[in-house]
Amino acid sequence: MIASFNLRTALVLATASFVMAACRQDMHDQPKYKPQRVSEFFADGRAGRPELEGTIARGTLNEDTAFYSGKDAAGDDIVEFPVSIDKAFLLRGQQRYDIYCAPCHGRIGNGLGMIVRRGFKQPPSYHIDRLRAAPVGHIFDVISNGYGAMLNYASQVQPRDRWAITAYIRALQYSQNAPLAQLSPDARAKVPGASTALSPEMRAAMAAQPLVPNDSDFYNFPAEPATPAGVPGAIGVGARKSNQPERK
Ligand code: HEC
Repeated sequence: MIASFNLRTALVLATASFVMAACRQDMHDQPKYKPQRVSEFFADGRAGRPELEGTIARGTLNEDTAFYSGKDAAGDDIVEFPVSIDKAFLLRGQQRYDIYCAPCHGRIGNGLGMIVRRGFKQPPSYHIDRLRAAPVGHIFDVISNGYGAMLNYASQVQPRDRWAITAYIRALQYSQNAPLAQLSPDARAKVPGASTALSPEMRAAMAAQPLVPNDSDFYNFPAEPATPAGVPGAIGVGARKSNQPERK
C-alpha cells in the first residue's frame, strides 16, 4: 500500500514537473528583444524605444518649480524660501553643510576649508556683500548645477536638504554680521571686544566652552597651503612636482 502510494506520488510529481518544465521552456523561448539589440521592425533599427515626449516617471513630476529649481515662473532666482524653517531644519542644514560644503568653504563659510588649504581653488567667503545679498534661489542653484570650478551636488544632496543647507548658510552669514544689539546678553558677553564688563563666572564659562572650536588651525591659516612635503601633485610648501602627466 505504502509502496504503491509512493509510486503514484512519484508519477504525479514527475508529470507535474514535466508540464512545468515544458511551460517554462515556452516562456523562455518566446519572441522578445534583449536590451540594446537591433530591430528590423522600427525604422531607426533599434529595439530600445525612446520615451514618448512628455513622459514623466512616477514620483518625478516636480511641479513645484520654486522648490525643485529655486526659480520663479519668469526663471529668476527666488528670494524667499519655498519651505518653512525651524530649528530642526537648520540643524539638518548644519549637518549636511559640514559634510558636503565645509571641506572647501570652511565651517564658518570663509572659504578656507581643508581642501582649499591643500591647493583647490579658494571659493569666495559667504560673508562678502554680494553673497549676503544673493537670493536664496542662487545658492540652491549653485548646489544643484555647480558654479565655475565647483561641481554640482545634485546627486549627493536632495532638494529638501539643499534648502536646509541654504538656510544654514543664511544663519552663518547672519552669525558673522549680526548687530550686537540683537544678541542676548549672554551671547553678547561672548563676543570678543564687547566683553569688557564680564563677570568672573562668565569668563570662567567662556574659557570652559570657547565660542569657536579649540582647533588652533581654525583661524590661523598659514600664508601658503601647508602641504606636507612629498605629496605628489599638490602645490604649496614642501610639495614636489608630480610625476603624473598634467591633466588638462
Ligand atoms: C570641492 C570644493 C567645494 C565644495 C565641496 C563645495 N564648493 Fe561651493 N565653491 C567652490 C569653489 C571653488 C567656488 C568658486 C567657484 C568659481 O568661482 O569658479 C564655490 C562657490 C560657491 C558659491 C558662490 C557662488 C557665487 O555666486 O560666487 C556658493 C554659494 C557655494 N559654492 C555653495 C556651496 C555649497 C552649498 C556646497 C555644499 C553643498 C559647496 N559649495 C561645496 C568649491 C566647493
